[in-house]
Amino acid sequence: MRRKIVAGNWKMNMRFSEADDLLTLILDDIENKGIPEHVDVVVCPPALYLELATDMALGKPLLVGAQNVGAYESGAYTGEISAGMLESVEVDYCIIGHSERRQYFYESNADLAKKTDILLKHGIIPIFCCGELLDDREDDMHMEVVSTQLEEGLFHLEESDFSKVLIAYEPVWAIGTGKTATPEQAQEMHAFIRALVAKKYSKQIADECLILYGGSCNAGNAKELFSQEDVDGGLIGGASLKVEDFATIIRSA
Ligand code: PGA
Repeated sequence: MRRKIVAGNWKMNMRFSEADDLLTLILDDIENKGIPEHVDVVVCPPALYLELATDMALGKPLLVGAQNVGAYESGAYTGEISAGMLESVEVDYCIIGHSERRQYFYESNADLAKKTDILLKHGIIPIFCCGELLDDREDDMHMEVVSTQLEEGLFHLEESDFSKVLIAYEPVWAIGTGKTATPEQAQEMHAFIRALVAKKYSKQIADECLILYGGSCNAGNAKELFSQEDVDGGLIGGASLKVEDFATIIRSA
């Protein structure tokens, strides 16, 4: 059986003391109630709080991810944070290609291919986001859009590198809108992605590939979404900022 991952994407929220409080509450909850053995829990706070998070999570069953990474090794790239810097504070994962970064910061699939490479070079697991806009779905282009994102952003990898990557399917129309994909819509796309991976790499690699769902996933709908055959957990935005909701989602996996 594949493992399940529940990853919280905090986005650009919280002051330092609030981040500290939320991490404390999540760790208390995990310590007191435990987490299912087949589940890995990840928090992705803003970059400024990553070191706090990796310090607090040290030796605990909580992994830490960044929300973005610079595409270059080091040097004159004002404002950017490199994969080497993330590695130096022991970050485990990094979200890349979130639709907010594609939309507001004009990140292209070619940029994401570079970011994937540099993360893997530094031993950080990319959580590669893909997903269609509402118009794409209404035009019945959703499969094609996702397929292109994977082809251009990920499928240049050798099999041994690809097998380290997580994929997050996040239909853009479902992010932060309260409008979740139905379990059937999620399953259909996840099965499609797995079939693409099988075609590009192998059935074994596809069977082992973890594909998370994201987009208005919450304490009320997580169980049904996660019970779909090809849904291996979730990338959770808004609901990951409330410990009770996040804890329920963890235990729904
Ligand atoms: P949401 O965000 O759960 O608030 O819809 C998910 C995400 O953007 O990763």
